[in-house]
Amino acid sequence: MGATQLSTKHLLGIKYITKEDIQLIFETADNFKEVINRPIKKVPSLRDVTIANLFFENSTRTRISFELAEKRLSADVVNFSASSSSVKKGETLLDTVNNILSMKVDMVVMRHPAPGAPSFLAQHIDANIINAGDGTHEHPTQALLDAFSMREQLGDLEGKRIAIFGDILHSRVALSNIFCLKKLGAEVMVCGPPTLIPKHIGELGVEVSYNVKEALKWCDVANVLRIQLERQDIKYIPSIREYTQYFGINKALLDSLNKKIIIMHPGPINRGVELSSDVADSEHSIILQQVENGVAVRMAILFLLADKR
Ligand code: CP
Repeated sequence: MGATQLSTKHLLGIKYITKEDIQLIFETADNFKEVINRPIKKVPSLRDVTIANLFFENSTRTRISFELAEKRLSADVVNFSASSSSVKKGETLLDTVNNILSMKVDMVVMRHPAPGAPSFLAQHIDANIINAGDGTHEHPTQALLDAFSMREQLGDLEGKRIAIFGDILHSRVALSNIFCLKKLGAEVMVCGPPTLIPKHIGELGVEVSYNVKEALKWCDVANVLRIQLERQDIKYIPSIREYTQYFGINKALLDSLNKKIIIMHPGPINRGVELSSDVADSEHSIILQQVENGVAVRMAILFLLADKR
C-alpha cells in the first residue's frame, strides 16, 4: 500500500519531497479531477481552513488556479498582491506575513522574486507554506501538474523521454521539472542555446542537446519554455528572430519527424517565438489540459498539507 500522508508540512520545492509524496499527490489529484468535472464542483474538505495567497510577482495561471482550488475545497481565501500593499511603504517580508498570520491564517501560498523566500518564511512562521514560484529557483506545483499531465497521456513515466526546450538558465519550471521527472524514473534532456543552459546541469542526470531537431527525434514529450524576454537586456542570444530560427518549434519541423510528440508549455507563451501558433493550437498540444489539471493537482496539495497542520 502506498503512502497516505505527505512526508513534509510544506511544499517548498520538488527537491525536498519523495517519489511516494509525488505519487500520493497524483492519486489524490485523480479523485479531485473527477470532482471538478461534476455539476457541483465543490467539496467541504477545507471548510475550517483559511488560506492566504501572497503574490509578490505577477501571475495569471498559478494565482487563479490556486484560488479556484481553494474555493473548490471550501477554504476561506484572502488574496494579497505586493503592488497594492504596504510593501510599497517599505514593510519587510516577515512583518507583512506576520501581520497576515495574526489574522489566523492556516496556510500560505507564496510567489516571490527572491529564491528561497518561501523557505525563509517556513523557518519563521507556523503555517503550511506552498511555494508558487521563487525567482529562478523552483516552481513545484507547475512541475507536479506537468508530470500529472504527462502521466495522463503516457501512463507510468519510468523510462519515458522528456525534453525541456528553451531558457533553462533562468527557469524555475525547468529545475522543478528535472527534479520531479528524475524522481519518477523518466529520462530527461534539456535543449537550447549554450548561453541559456547552465554549465553543470549534467550533474542532475540530464542529457544536453543544442540541436532542436535531434532533441525532438529523441523525446516522447517536448516541454517548451518561454524565452524570458525581460531578461534579454544581457545578450544571451543574438536576437529573438535568430532564436526562433534555430530553436523555435513549428509545424513544418514536427511534420518532418514522422512521429507523434506531445507538446507542452507552462505559459505564458510567446507565440511565434519559442512555439508557433499552429503547434500551440494543434492536436499534439496539451497546453490547456495542463491548466485544467493544475486545479486538481493544487487541490490535492492543499488537501494533503492541511492534514499536516
Ligand atoms: N505557469 C505559470 O507559472 O504561469 P503564471 O506566471 O501566469 O502563474
